[in-house]
Amino acid sequence: VASEKLPRPRPRADELELSGEQMRRLLDAAAKRTIAHVESLPRQPSWATEGGEQLARSLREEMPEEGRPAEELLDLVFEKVIPASLNTAGPGYLAYIPAGGLFQSAVADFVAQATNRYAGVFSVAPGLVALEANVLRWFSQIVGYPRESQGILTTGGSLSNFSALVTARRERLPENFLSGMVYTSDQTHHSVEKAAMLAGFPHGNVRVIGTDETFRIRIPDLESAIAADRRAGKTPFLISANAGTTNTGAVDDLRALADIAEREKLWLHADAAYGGFFALTAEGRRILAGIERADSIVLDPHKSLFLPYGTGCLLVRDGPALKRAHALSADYMPTMQDDPGMPDFNLLSPELSREWRGLRVWLPIKMHGIAAFRRALEEKLALAREAADKLRVMPGIEIVAEPQLSLVAFRANRPGWDVGEANEVNKALLDRINARKRVYMTGTRLGSRFVLRLCVLSFRTHADAVEMALEDIRAALEESS
Ligand SMILES: Cc1ncc(COP(=O)(O)O)c(C=O)c1O
Repeated sequence: VASEKLPRPRPRADELELSGEQMRRLLDAAAKRTIAHVESLPRQPSWATEGGEQLARSLREEMPEEGRPAEELLDLVFEKVIPASLNTAGPGYLAYIPAGGLFQSAVADFVAQATNRYAGVFSVAPGLVALEANVLRWFSQIVGYPRESQGILTTGGSLSNFSALVTARRERLPENFLSGMVYTSDQTHHSVEKAAMLAGFPHGNVRVIGTDETFRIRIPDLESAIAADRRAGKTPFLISANAGTTNTGAVDDLRALADIAEREKLWLHADAAYGGFFALTAEGRRILAGIERADSIVLDPHKSLFLPYGTGCLLVRDGPALKRAHALSADYMPTMQDDPGMPDFNLLSPELSREWRGLRVWLPIKMHGIAAFRRALEEKLALAREAADKLRVMPGIEIVAEPQLSLVAFRANRPGWDVGEANEVNKALLDRINARKRVYMTGTRLGSRFVLRLCVLSFRTHADAVEMALEDIRAALEESS
C-alpha cells in the first residue's frame, strides 16, 4: 500500500524542556513567593484550616489537557492552598514534634532534584554517595556508635522503625518467626507496633509494658513479661526502648534495658526519632546514656535536626546486619561494592529509586557546623525548663510530666474535679489557647488524664514564642475561671 512507503513524521516533543531563561523565570517566581512566605511565618496565624473541606472540594479537578502559566499556578498554591493549614513551620508551632524545616535543606533538595542523579548505587555516583555516607557517619558519631555501624536515610521514623524491626527479625529469629515477641512500653510511638504488623507479626506478639510516674518503662515488669513469655514457649527477641516519647519526651533507662537485652540475648532497638540529636548536647548525652549499646537507633533529622519533613534515619550497630536483611540483586543492576565505606544504599534499605536525600542534611551541617545545631538544641532544652518553671507557679496548673528533653505536659486541675470533669476542662482550655491563633499546641492522654503538651523544638521557636504561649495559657485560664 502506498501509504506504508511514506516516511514517518518524527514530531519533536520538547516543550517539557525549559530554556535557561524559562528556568530563571520559573525559579524567580517560586523564590519570590517562597521567601516572602518564609519571612512572614512569625506573622502568619498558627493555624487556618477552617473551611478546609470546601477548599479541598473547590480544588478537585479533571486532568488538564492543556497547560496554564506557572505564575498563576504558584499564586494558587501560595494564596489558597498553603495558608489553609497548620503553620507547622512557624515559631508558634509547639504541637506534636515540631522542627521548622530548614530553608537551606529546601535549596539542597532543589539542587538534588534538578540535577537528578541516582545515589542508590555507589559506582554510579561515588561522590554523591560519599556525601551521604559522611552524614551517616556523623550521625553514628553523635550517638556513640562504632565504625562498623551502618545506616540509611529514610523518609521518617515510621519507615526507620520498620527496617529496624525487619533487621532484628532477620538476625534473631528463624524464618518461621511467628513466636517472636516484641516488648514496648505504653508510651511507645504507634509506628513501632505498626512496624511489627507490617513485618508480619500477629497483634498479640507486641507486649506493652507499663510505665512509672515519669513515663519510663517499668524494668521489673519487663523482666517478668520476658520470663513469662519464655515459660509459655514464646521467643522474646526485641526490646524497643524510648529515647524521647511523643507524649512527654520520656527517656527509658537505656542502660538497664541494655543490661537486660545483653543478658537475655535480645535485640535492643532505640526509638530516638525525637530525642536522638539531643546527644549533641552535654545534658542530652547524660540523659541518653546507654543509647550507644542499642543494636539499632532511629533518628529523625526532620525532628531534632530541624530538617523539612521526609528525612529519617536508621543506624545499625552491626552494619552488615542491615545488609543481610535488605540485600537482593538482579541481572540489570550494576556491580555492587563489598567495602562498607562505599555503601550501595539500595542493599541496605527497602528503596531502590529515590531522591538524593543526603544533600539536604549535608548542606546545612557544612554551612553552619554542627555547633550551631548543638546551640539550638541547648536553647530548646532551656526553654522547655523555663516554660515548666513558669507553668508550675500558674494558679490552677499542675505539671504532669516535667521536661526530660524539650517537652512539658501539664493540665489545669482543682480539688474536687473528677477525671472526666478535669479532662473536659482541659480540652476546652486547649481550644481556647489555640483559638488565639498565635501558638498551636496539642494534647494527649496519659492514662486516664487528658493533658496539654508544649513541645519546644522548632529552630524558629525562641523565648518570645514560648512567652506568647504562656500568655495565651494564662489568658485562656482566666477566661475559664
Ligand atoms: C518517638 C517517635 N517515633 C517515631 C515517630 C514516627 O516518625 P515519622 O512521623 O517520621 O514517621 C514519631 C513521630 O512523631 C515519634 O515521635
